[in-house]
Amino acid sequence: MYRTHTCNDLRASDVGSEVTLSGWVHRRRDHGGVIFIDIRDRYGVTQIVSDPEKFAEAHANMDKVRSEFVVKITGEVSARPEGQHNKNHDSGEIELVVKELEILNTSLTPPFEIDQEKEVGEELRLTYRYLDLRRGRMKNNIILRSKMVKFIRDFMFEDDFIEIETPILIKGTPEGSREFLVPARLHPGNFYVLPQSPQQLKQLLMVAGMDKYFQIARCFRDEDQRGDRQPEFTQLDVEMSFVVQEDVMKVSEKCLIEITEKFAPDKKIQAKPFPVLTYHEAMNDYGIDRPDLRYELKLTDVTDLVKDCGFTVFRSVCDAGGTVKALRVPGGAKFSRKEIDEFTEVAKIYKAKGLAYIVVEEELRSPILKFFKDEEIKSILESVGAETGDIVFFSADKWHVACEALGYVRVAIAKKMELADENEFAFCWVKDFPMFEEDEETGGLAAVHHPFTAPHDADEMAKEPAKSLAKAYDVILNGNEIGGGSIRIHDEPTQKKVFDILGINNEDAERRFGHILKAFRYGAPPHGGIAWGIDRLVMLFAGEPNIREVIAFPKDQKARDLMLGAPSQMPDKQVEELHIKVNVEE
Ligand code: AMO
Ligand code: AMP
Repeated sequence: MYRTHTCNDLRASDVGSEVTLSGWVHRRRDHGGVIFIDIRDRYGVTQIVSDPEKFAEAHANMDKVRSEFVVKITGEVSARPEGQHNKNHDSGEIELVVKELEILNTSLTPPFEIDQEKEVGEELRLTYRYLDLRRGRMKNNIILRSKMVKFIRDFMFEDDFIEIETPILIKGTPEGSREFLVPARLHPGNFYVLPQSPQQLKQLLMVAGMDKYFQIARCFRDEDQRGDRQPEFTQLDVEMSFVVQEDVMKVSEKCLIEITEKFAPDKKIQAKPFPVLTYHEAMNDYGIDRPDLRYELKLTDVTDLVKDCGFTVFRSVCDAGGTVKALRVPGGAKFSRKEIDEFTEVAKIYKAKGLAYIVVEEELRSPILKFFKDEEIKSILESVGAETGDIVFFSADKWHVACEALGYVRVAIAKKMELADENEFAFCWVKDFPMFEEDEETGGLAAVHHPFTAPHDADEMAKEPAKSLAKAYDVILNGNEIGGGSIRIHDEPTQKKVFDILGINNEDAERRFGHILKAFRYGAPPHGGIAWGIDRLVMLFAGEPNIREVIAFPKDQKARDLMLGAPSQMPDKQVEELHIKVNVEE
């Protein structure tokens, strides 16, 4: 028997009993004569003390152990003297006087300290992830994730959903991002792809009459990495039959509220029910389709006020049908030149051509003042509600660019000024996304969500595709998109219209989506669903800055698994069996 208790079980009431614990040597202190070690397992830490007089052999063994050795210890539970309780550990009132110590395994000196939450380079952490996961913060994240997923599962079952697994080797189901391919050995020249999401399969499950389906599903996307993206990630995937948008949103909202109450009881949910914004409102007011509502800072439209002004940049944008947006930042007059330049760089990332500003002090300061009449400036400042001590930023461009550039400046400013209340969870819904957006590569239209998303009005869509709105919705938490979904098209004429607009001809449609088009001819029910990004959700609940911190074995920023050394070259023979030729210069 390796243990009678875990390292977190023993309390003052156990004093006097003989117990056995197994775990890792967390810390070791030699107090000349007596040796103390803390031993650690998943559950906690218990202090062990040697008694060289009474148990000389055990003491000698205590002398041999080093950090991260695996040990089995039998001893007597003893009360720690008053004043020497360790408040950091649940077993901090007691210690174990060691009678026998068996070294179950030794350990090399770890490449970083495990008993301390010091900053360690991420490359090292990911290379030795199994050691990194021994550290308290990571262990807690992984446990939190497990509990949250269980909670979600229980919630879904309680609401009469059934969990169904869908395959990982599927046919290409283009949804927007690049797919990972898997060569099919038995079918030379053919490939499976890894699902970007179970999107089409869950729709086929609706055709199959499964009604309320969910899955904790692994998704694969071969896209460039960012803080909140991974090439493989986990979704809560949901699909329901005979529903409208509000039905799907209601289930998600209820679960998100309950999960917050359970796992983030200290966070105040800003508003219940969650505010619902249209995409147009979100972009127009916040310049982003996932607004962080923990702070205000709304954008103002000043197009009408500047359309006849003497500043050619603004006037020509207005003449061309564009928009001039203003962002008033209370207290922003204190920004340095360098900070203003930083915000200008942010605006430029989002395609703004510049970032004009007016510093509102006794004397106004601004590079564009000279182009305006006094009363024009006065009316602009009035319309944004500017007061002494503020700064007002401007962006002039096509509506979308003007809003978006200033929207990201808004986010950067909120970060700099620490405007977000860390104790708040601000959920909201954003709905009524456009059906289509311009595809920069082809110049044609591309689906904003995916080609199965239903339009609000199919006839209107056919007339003016660029203006048509989708029955699509995203759920946002503190400025992060944690989920998205839509009502799907379930009739062939509408689906055909969408394919037409996307430039997918019949032949193409049959080749790419034939399986689903065929299925839809056998009585597809009205249906819709949503998928949450589980990694992002857990990241926000854990208060972590990126999703790698809540994934046991994540890929690094270059999509590599540093621990396994993946991706890697494969033996020629194995590659040949796949009828594949590798075409890489040595
Ligand atoms: P979507 O592509 O919006 O929708 O994905 C749903 C949610 O998954 C999360 N997510 C990611 N998380 C980590 N790394 C990634 N690379 C990544 N990509 C997405 C986000 C996002 O909100 N089939 C549709 C859902 C539906 O219509 O039902 C879909 O996959 O939190
Ligand atoms: P310029 O006359 O080009 O030096 O521009 C004067 C100010 O207007 C600078 O602060 C620029 O950053 C800003 N500016 C230039 N183009 C735009 C634009 N499209 N929108 C907002 N500000 C701009």
